[in-house]
Amino acid sequence: MKSRTSMKCKLYVLSVVASCSISGPLWAADTPVAGNVQNARDKISMCIGCHGIPGYKASFPELYHVPMIAGQNAKYIEAALNEYKKGTRSHPTMDAIAGSLSDQDIADLAAYYSQLK
Ligand code: HEC
Repeated sequence: MKSRTSMKCKLYVLSVVASCSISGPLWAADTPVAGNVQNARDKISMCIGCHGIPGYKASFPELYHVPMIAGQNAKYIEAALNEYKKGTRSHPTMDAIAGSLSDQDIADLAAYYSQLK
């Protein structure tokens, strides 16, 4: 029993070291940020103009269809916002918006939108 526990610890340490070597120093390692639905309510004012209306088409800077994000999986919303932020996914307005969001904002917004029906 005792040796099994220490084996687990070693594996844990190894995986932390492995992830650090990819994502940078220990303090910058990806720690999941817990989303807070309540806190998101102050932040959705930025999104509601475009994402609040089913089937809405934004007309700036050109006409495009705005996807529904209500009820989407939180991980998906979070990933999409991070991609806009990092530039791996690109859209004129979403790039600007996602760039202004912190990891906590993104987690809160993802939690909020994922629990909408
Ligand atoms: C000016 C209009 C506008 C505003 C404001 C806006 N969005 Fe968007 N959003 C869009 C459009 C258009 C797309 C689709 C872009 C594309 O095709 O990549 C999009 C895409 C997304 C996606 C990806 C959806 C998918 O199905 O892949 C997410 C998530 C998202 N927005 C979240 C947000 C959040 C959260 C906010 C507020 C902080 C916000 N958006 C504010 C117009 C807007």
